[in-house]
Amino acid sequence: MAYTMNQEDDRDFKPSDLGTKDFWDNTYSREVENFKDHGDVGEIWFGEDTQEKICNWIEECEDIEKKNSIIDLGCGNGMMLIDLWKRGFRNLTGVDYSEGAIALAKSLSEAEGTHEIVYLVGDLVGERGKSQCSCLSHHYKVCVDKGTYDAISLMPENCLIGREHYRDTIRSIMEPDGYFIITSCNWTKDQLLTFFGTDFRLHDEIPYPTFQFGGKSGSKVTSLILKLKS
Ligand SMILES: C[S@@+](CC[C@H](N)C(=O)[O-])C[C@H]1O[C@@H](n2cnc3c(N)ncnc32)[C@H](O)[C@@H]1O
Repeated sequence: MAYTMNQEDDRDFKPSDLGTKDFWDNTYSREVENFKDHGDVGEIWFGEDTQEKICNWIEECEDIEKKNSIIDLGCGNGMMLIDLWKRGFRNLTGVDYSEGAIALAKSLSEAEGTHEIVYLVGDLVGERGKSQCSCLSHHYKVCVDKGTYDAISLMPENCLIGREHYRDTIRSIMEPDGYFIITSCNWTKDQLLTFFGTDFRLHDEIPYPTFQFGGKSGSKVTSLILKLKS
């Protein structure tokens, strides 16, 4: 299928280095060294409060049991999974395309005594994604994305195709009654629902404090809980 430039215009931000693997490889190679030298766990994207709210939602959802499978897509340092482990969840997987992220996540997990969390290197966008990472041939009750779709949306090239591959990947790994929890600061709720609305419907939203500016009110971060359309 051919794509025109116009279809990329739903982005109201510019592509950047954050959309490249080089950027994340460099970031995590620094963070691995920082962890070795000072025990610094690195960046928790959107802050600890956001992570806590997402984990609270998962913990409070009556339909999600501690034994259910949860995957963190673009897990970075894996701190969210460590938080979930401490809340009693035991079927946890993290995937990231940066080898450095997975090395950091494994080191943190080892230090926290949560080494049973599975961390794997895998590209969630590449067309060959499925054959590259065994975790993408399983199904999950919960798929969590905190900042990963944002990063993918900054890809300098073939961004729309990449985003569509990402959406396909998520659809293919979700259990039919599963939950996709996406947290973004680059896309609004409406934009997320437009893009993911081809395959998903809104189930719930995690509330964040709103700010007001120039007569418009909004929050800096959006977390939506989506379910597959039947
Ligand atoms: C903004 S960071 C968020 C990290 C982590 N989710 C957090 O909240 O701390 C984006 C993450 O997505 C990962 N990522 C970006 N594109 C990816 C892709 N195509 N496949 C897998 N991981 C990807 C990056 O390596 C990075 O760890």
